[in-house]
Amino acid sequence: MMNDVVNIDDLRKLAKRRLPKIAYDYVEGGTDDEAALLTNLQAFRRTRVIPRYLVDVSVRDQSTVLFGRTYSSPIGIAPTGLAGLLRPGADIMLAQAARDANVPFIMSGVSTGSIEDLGKVAPDHGWYQLYSSKDPSISEDMIKRASDAGLRTLVFTVDVPESSNRERDLRNGWRRPLKLTWKTKFEALRHPAWMMQWLQHGAPYFDNWTKYAGPNASVEQVADLVANQCRAPMTWKHVERYRELWKGNFVIKGIMHPDDAVRAHSLGVDGIIVSNHGGRQLDNAPSPLEMLPRIRDVVGDNMTVMLDSGIRRGLDVLIAICMGAQFVFQGRPTLYGVTAGGVAGAAKALAIFRREIDISMAQMGVSSIADLGRHHLMWKDNEDWRSNRREET
Ligand code: FNR
Repeated sequence: MMNDVVNIDDLRKLAKRRLPKIAYDYVEGGTDDEAALLTNLQAFRRTRVIPRYLVDVSVRDQSTVLFGRTYSSPIGIAPTGLAGLLRPGADIMLAQAARDANVPFIMSGVSTGSIEDLGKVAPDHGWYQLYSSKDPSISEDMIKRASDAGLRTLVFTVDVPESSNRERDLRNGWRRPLKLTWKTKFEALRHPAWMMQWLQHGAPYFDNWTKYAGPNASVEQVADLVANQCRAPMTWKHVERYRELWKGNFVIKGIMHPDDAVRAHSLGVDGIIVSNHGGRQLDNAPSPLEMLPRIRDVVGDNMTVMLDSGIRRGLDVLIAICMGAQFVFQGRPTLYGVTAGGVAGAAKALAIFRREIDISMAQMGVSSIADLGRHHLMWKDNEDWRSNRREET
């Protein structure tokens, strides 16, 4: 089955076949009218990449240095909550695939695997993503656990001030914790492999939170605790506090405004991920790709700037780098992969990106990531085509 997979969309189709509607829609959906989802994808299609020829590109190197570590490709795995709904153990499978491909994997703050297991499986590739909790002692303990597990990068996600309006989930009768209605069970019968998993494992736990819900807490109690704790007000005070506590690389995910990027830098944040949460929070938000050059222009080279949302092709990765990203992440593609084929499926998604990056580098006439810049691009801005010439230094 995996042999017939050529691109990320092939993996998406396999995942769709394997999942009941309620689980597929959870992954695929966005907020409100899902305009931001489309904006994210279209932003890449609106750019034009200018090839350079008569350059020797017979040897190409896509390895990229990030926070002092060399990764084999400039694309990692973004944090995605509740991955165990797609396949039990999915979080750790994603970590294994990332480790084997030598790229970073960010474990979600509402993962269904534990920080401690991540530390055992992928200490050099695992990052941890924190959702601020109402009770500060929980966030502080999670930070300590991430450090004790040997992880070196903490990602603080700031773009979920409140649950968003995901109408696919509402229509599917999504509730907390996930319980299958008769309608869903009936539909799930058409996806027997997934249904068998559900019968064997039941609803996935938020592993990292069980500790705070008391001994022998049920799935319901843990889910209630997470829902209650994660909807706490979040301000720059939290950034200051977590920066102080975390001694490793500290990254904020979800920055979209240049002023917020500048403020993050002034508070000692090491990096930001420009992201609109894959179109899952604010429907008329711009795409991160549109904001990226503006952000890069104000922070210069003083801070590590990364990007996610809408990357489906190796060429998209290169476009984001040309626009000013040092590294990119993707969420759904490796979720399709892990759903379709466990570790091998996630590895396949990463291998597809790697191959497409390699081929696109040759087509563009570059042999290393450092050669990429805005001079390779034209993009449609306010209905004008603007060419971006290399600034001679
Ligand atoms: C997410 N995302 C996310 N982000 C985060 O910081 N913590 C989380 O727990 C989650 N959970 C989550 C679940 C699912 C199913 C998806 C699809 C996404 C957002 C994620 O990290 C990333 O920003 C987007 O997935 C990037 O967009 P693409 O690559 O999916 O288009």
